[in-house]
Amino acid sequence: MTLKEQFGKDILLTGWGHTKFGKLTDDTLESLIVQVAGEAIKNSGLEPRDIDEIYLGQFNSGMQPLGFTSSLALQLSADLANVPATRTENACASGSAAFQQGVKAVLAGTARNVLVIGAEKMTDAGADVVGAGLLGASYEMAGKPSTTGFTGLFAEVAKHYGKRYGAGISRPGFEEGLGDVLGSIAAKNHRNGMDNPYAQMHRDFGEEFCRTISEKNPMVAEPLRRTDCSPVSDGAAAVVLSTSATGGATAPVRLAGFGHANDFFPAEKRDPTEFAATRASWERALTMAGVGLDGLDFAEVHDCFTIAELIMYEAMGLTPRGEGARAIQEGWVYKDGKLPVNVSGGLKAKGHPVGATGVSQHVIAAMQLSGTAGSMQLPAARRGVVQNMGGVGIANYVSVLEAL
Ligand code: COA
Repeated sequence: MTLKEQFGKDILLTGWGHTKFGKLTDDTLESLIVQVAGEAIKNSGLEPRDIDEIYLGQFNSGMQPLGFTSSLALQLSADLANVPATRTENACASGSAAFQQGVKAVLAGTARNVLVIGAEKMTDAGADVVGAGLLGASYEMAGKPSTTGFTGLFAEVAKHYGKRYGAGISRPGFEEGLGDVLGSIAAKNHRNGMDNPYAQMHRDFGEEFCRTISEKNPMVAEPLRRTDCSPVSDGAAAVVLSTSATGGATAPVRLAGFGHANDFFPAEKRDPTEFAATRASWERALTMAGVGLDGLDFAEVHDCFTIAELIMYEAMGLTPRGEGARAIQEGWVYKDGKLPVNVSGGLKAKGHPVGATGVSQHVIAAMQLSGTAGSMQLPAARRGVVQNMGGVGIANYVSVLEAL
């Protein structure tokens, strides 16, 4: 049953906004939120008075002085006075948590038009504060000193993966080690980021640089080098959700399916090399949309670290477990491959302002599907998927979006 058959209405993305990601020293959290909220409402053809509810995805966890962020969008217009506004937090998936709450409000009929925003300001704090703040997502690690922050957690995943599947990540003719495979993923996403005007990093490092440990590409937490990590970023994105579009809307895009699944935490009950709940969220979203992988034209996935993108190839069913390397080695996930992954440059090159990421992924996908992605545009993109993850495979959100 499609989303419309199941709920009796369409969910449309009717307008969106996106700041550049990066170290945005001239902006505050408020200025970022107000900017994208204004763009999204204007591009939807609505007025602020038409917005019935606001959801704001933001993680924070002490990276900024605490504030009452849910209401910051109200600074945009006096006509937003009294609009219910709620902040959602689900670690690095806080933006998608806001998106799906917005979807549910429209489906429930308690709101006609919902403004969804994701925002984070990370670069004001020092690296130690950011690292400790991100680890606040784990109640076991919160408050404990860490030199490697979240990189250390994903490095453990990479070590387990390497141990289990070894350097035997191969295709006929040659063998490559895990480090080289991860380097290829980094190089692909950095190359793609060159075409994204919103991206934090416009640097085509190339395969050799990303595969090699050097002074400019040091090990952060073995086996992850600097180029295996997403950067620390500021930024915001917003989208308006409605059941129908006004004439003024840019080019609406339909939500065809969505899924959400959480995994156990702490992780003793889990296999660290498998993102099982990520897979469950994929299956839920694709089943609701009534499509398989072959019905998708692109995917924007959560490559907070390159090892995450590698395991994602397996979670989404592109390859069997342990064989994710084939997806990059055989060219499937490049721009001209059978399923381009992270044409935007992903979190790796675009940046990862934590709470903004999930909303940004939806906005980038909507740009592709409405033919407004500019230099990132894929030819004939009709249906795409967005996957956003909080923690190490803990909070998992997937959306299938399609052109009207
Ligand atoms: N990838 C590639 N290059 C990066 C980079 C990244 N992630 N982060 C910084 N750089 C580059 C900078 O552009 C700069 O280049 P330059 O010297 O040519 O100007 C250089 O590296 C040094 O920048 P700096 O900011 O001092 O780097 P750093 O060593 O302090 O930080 C990381 C690098 C990888 C440690 C940091 O980006 C990080 O902690 N990332 C992970 C964030 C995270 O955990 N997010 C949550 C995920 S779940």
